[in-house]
Amino acid sequence: MWDYTDKVLELFYNPQHQGAIEDKGEPGIKVAVGDVGSIACGDALRLHLKVEENTEKILEARFQTFGCTSAIASSEALVELIKGKTLDEALKVTNKEIANYLGGLPEAKMHCSVMGQEALEAAIYNYRGIPLDSHEDDDEGAIVCTCFGISDVKIRRVIIENNLTTAEEVTHYVKAGGGCGSCLANIDDIIASVQKEKVSATPVSNSLYQTNGKSAVKPLTPVQKIALIQRVLDEEVRPVLIADGGDVELFDVEGDRVKVILQGACGSCSSSTATLKIAIESRLRDRVSKELVVEAV
Ligand code: FES
Repeated sequence: MWDYTDKVLELFYNPQHQGAIEDKGEPGIKVAVGDVGSIACGDALRLHLKVEENTEKILEARFQTFGCTSAIASSEALVELIKGKTLDEALKVTNKEIANYLGGLPEAKMHCSVMGQEALEAAIYNYRGIPLDSHEDDDEGAIVCTCFGISDVKIRRVIIENNLTTAEEVTHYVKAGGGCGSCLANIDDIIASVQKEKVSATPVSNSLYQTNGKSAVKPLTPVQKIALIQRVLDEEVRPVLIADGGDVELFDVEGDRVKVILQGACGSCSSSTATLKIAIESRLRDRVSKELVVEAV
């Protein structure tokens, strides 16, 4: 039995927006639909939007969903979130907002919130006459999971938007990897590449140690140095190691000697020394002090 929130159950048992919207040909009004999923895969959602053409405001939205409790509740939540919004505003609704509106979803059901977001995008693309095969996200890129037809672009997107760090989480969000499992290694590779991009795109801010944008001339105190080492490990090093099945824990700092405990794959890996030197020591030297020497304990 899934542990659903009261909000999920309320929307599932009493949905207000189930059904279709008939296009009556009213002047200035356009009806568009967006389809996602397939009944063969267990979930399918058709979202109907009634849009005022001159303002692009969503006047009404309805859904026809084949799926479980969370699929129905996510569809209802989506409709409640987008009602009255313009199409551009609605496009900013993320699967996270859908899940938050429901007070959360079980991890294994997060794909229902993703499905809602995708149906919305499909409907808006249809409204604007943009063919789905030119959709900049999901329908481009190489198929990684052939069981569910999921592309690398879609997997990357869900990893970035939801800060996912394991293939199992990716399966929960977009189903990829949940069939034969032969794509799991590729999903791991995508996670690792996203983590690496994150590391290079978000340098650690040294604002703690800066004044008005200029580096403080005072050297770091021992406490500041340890705090900065910990921060660099947490923000720049550990995400990369975790993506490869390892991890590192700061054990102690004695002067310029940084003692760490390598964990998981790093601890048993024959190349752990190289990992230490390249991934950890060089990073800490760049960010904290050129004098640091890292050793495993
Ligand atoms: S190819 Fe992804 S689960 Fe089979």
